[in-house]
Amino acid sequence: MSASAVDRYAVLGNPIAHSKSPAIHSAFAAQTGQRLSYERIEVPLDAFAARVGELIAAGYLGFNVTVPFKEQAFALAQRRTPRAQAAGAVNTLMPTSDGLLGDNTDGAGLVADLQRLGVQLAGARVLLLGAGGASRGVILPLREAGVARIAICNRTADKAQALAIEFGIAVQAAESTDTPYDVVINATSAGLAGALPPLPTGAVAVHTLAYDMLYGAQPTAFMQHCSGLGARVADGLGMLVGQAAESFALWRGVRPDAEPVLAQLRAAMKD
Ligand code: ATR
Repeated sequence: MSASAVDRYAVLGNPIAHSKSPAIHSAFAAQTGQRLSYERIEVPLDAFAARVGELIAAGYLGFNVTVPFKEQAFALAQRRTPRAQAAGAVNTLMPTSDGLLGDNTDGAGLVADLQRLGVQLAGARVLLLGAGGASRGVILPLREAGVARIAICNRTADKAQALAIEFGIAVQAAESTDTPYDVVINATSAGLAGALPPLPTGAVAVHTLAYDMLYGAQPTAFMQHCSGLGARVADGLGMLVGQAAESFALWRGVRPDAEPVLAQLRAAMKD
C-alpha cells in the first residue's frame, strides 16, 4: 500500500444501491477530521465469506453488514462482542490482530436515539412488537440502559414466548393491557407492506413514545395510528445514524455527533 492510501471501509449487502451508510460515514469523517473512504459493495448471495476475505486482503479496515448477510457475518466472525452474541447477528466487522471481530451496533443506535428524543430509559416500561432479528438485537442494550420492564408481543405468539424465555423478559398478549407503556417499539416488518403490527389496546397512552424502526419520507402506518391515539412518535432514521456512529467509534476511536448528520439526512429525504 502506498503512503497516501486512504483507509477503506464499506457496507456489504444485496441489494445495496439505496444504502445511506456512505453518506452518513462521509459526514462523520468530515465532522471528525478523519480521512477515509466508505463504499457500497453488492455481494453475490452465495459469496459473502469469500468476498470479505478478498476485501480484507485488499486492505479494507472495516465493514457494515446489512440484509441478508447479518447472520453469515455472525458465523464468520472469530470474536464477537457480548451484544453481537446476544443479537445472534453482526452488523459491524473489523479485522484485528486477534482475528475478525464481529459487533452489533443496532441496539446501541436505538438506545442513543431514544436518549436523543429525551426518553428516560432508567425505570421505563418498554413494549417490543415483533419477535424476529430486529427485536432480538435490541433486548440486551435496552436492558443495559436500565429499563424496568421489557415485554414482547408478536403475531405468532410462540415466537414471542421463545424469545421471552431466552432473555427472561415478559410476554404481552396482543389483545389488551391495563397499564400503558412508556415506549412502544415497532420491530416488525409489517410496515414494509403498509400494515400495522399487533398492538394491544391500552398499550399506548399520551405519555408513550411510539417508535418505528422503519423510516421514510412520510410517517409509517404505525406512527400514524399511534399519533391518532395521542402519542409522540418517531421513525427509525435516528437509529440508523446511531448505529453508524457506534460502528465509526469502534473503527476510528472517535465518537461522531449523530444529530447534525440526522438533520442533514432528514432534509434530503424531504427534497
Ligand atoms: P427482522 O430480522 O427484520 O426482525 P424477521 O426475523 O423476518 O425480520 O421478523 C419479522 C417480524 O415481523 C416477525 O416478528 C413477524 O411476525 P411473525 O413472527 O408472526 O411472522 C413480524 N411481521 C411481519 N409482517 C407482519 C405483519 N403483516 N403483521 C404482523 N407482524 C408481522
